[in-house]
Amino acid sequence: MTSNVPVPKVKLPMQAIGAKIFHSVNIISLFLMLTSGLQIYNANPVFGGRAGLHIPPIFTLGGWLAGGRHWHFAAMWLFSLNLLWYGIYVLITRRWRRRFVGVNDLKALQKTQNSRRLAYAWHRIIYTTIIPILLLALLTGLGMYKPAQFPWIVDMFGDWQALRIVHFSSVPMVVIFTVLHSLLGRKAGGSQLTESMFW
Ligand code: HEM
Repeated sequence: MTSNVPVPKVKLPMQAIGAKIFHSVNIISLFLMLTSGLQIYNANPVFGGRAGLHIPPIFTLGGWLAGGRHWHFAAMWLFSLNLLWYGIYVLITRRWRRRFVGVNDLKALQKTQNSRRLAYAWHRIIYTTIIPILLLALLTGLGMYKPAQFPWIVDMFGDWQALRIVHFSSVPMVVIFTVLHSLLGRKAGGSQLTESMFW
């Protein structure tokens, strides 16, 4: 028998509009940076040279080296300006004081018996790690983009080959982050929490 009683709508957690915009633009720009970066990588793989490991075309963007570079350098502005305004937003609104991992989360890891709190602590630890990952991609990318203006970035990592490897490492870091972040977000707050970051 079917009931006519309306099913109550689940209330989504409130998210600030600034966080939603940063989140969505970041996903789009990371997708473009990742796929166009892999296209550039394929022209001369950092692991094993021209005969080295190639990435299948389905994961690349641009069709060839110049196409990949065009995409990478265009999306670079979206990526870095989005990160810049988010940094300013986090400082002005003082979100940095409560939105990232804190001492309470670390205490919860050691003491709590509440599995939801534990998942939430891990969720906060993992999503906080994306900030240094993005900054590392930006720093090493800038070193590769303008080595004449920023030779100290190249020196900081040793040499050009080391800089390429560290820049490339942003690919596995972003992929692993995305998997863990999605799983932990669901574990901590179900599909409502995930959806609340978009609409
Ligand atoms: C998370 C974001 C990013 C990812 C996943 C990413 C990925 C990649 C990959 C896989 C490569 C090929 C590396 C190689 O084989 O040498 C590459 C190259 C490059 N990336 Fe990025 N990148 C990101 C962000 C950036 C940013 C923000 C900049 C600039 C500020 C940048 C500038 C460059 C430059 C200049 C190259 C070398 C292009 C060339 O040699 O023609 N990247 N990137």
